[in-house]
Amino acid sequence: MSKEKEISKEEIVSGIVSEHKETSGPLLIILHEIQKALKFIPPETVPLIAEGLNLSRAEVHGVISFYHFFRSAPPGRHTIQICRAESCQAMGSRQLEQHAKQSLGIDFHQTTADEQITLEPVYCLGNCACSPAIRVGDDIHAHVGPAAFDAILADLATEKVEVQN
Ligand code: FES
Repeated sequence: MSKEKEISKEEIVSGIVSEHKETSGPLLIILHEIQKALKFIPPETVPLIAEGLNLSRAEVHGVISFYHFFRSAPPGRHTIQICRAESCQAMGSRQLEQHAKQSLGIDFHQTTADEQITLEPVYCLGNCACSPAIRVGDDIHAHVGPAAFDAILADLATEKVEVQN
């Protein structure tokens, strides 16, 4: 059994705040780094961030909630992003979006009850020629209609699709 002490979320956040607090416009950099390290920004660490940057908790919270990119809860095992930009919309991404929300029983920025899938919107994946496009973890899928979406979900359920969030 390892005797190494597990590093707490608070220690990770404090380290990131200390490392970046002297840079110019540090808040967004710090929030990005925290989300990179923890996959979300734990609400209980907002006071630490605020104190470190001499801001109010409300200011930090305001920035976190303004940018939908930042999560206040851990994501599911897999993150699926559906492109909502122009080219994908023209090729049916809105219908795909409705299908995905209905199939998963969640809205954007939510995670399924079994903690497997988080659904997010994205604005262009640089794959416009193959619209509609979605990203699953690091993999971009092209020409995704409802049937292809269901097949991807089935693959995720059986772990056939290798993804990293
Ligand atoms: S508009 Fe969807 S990938 Fe560019």
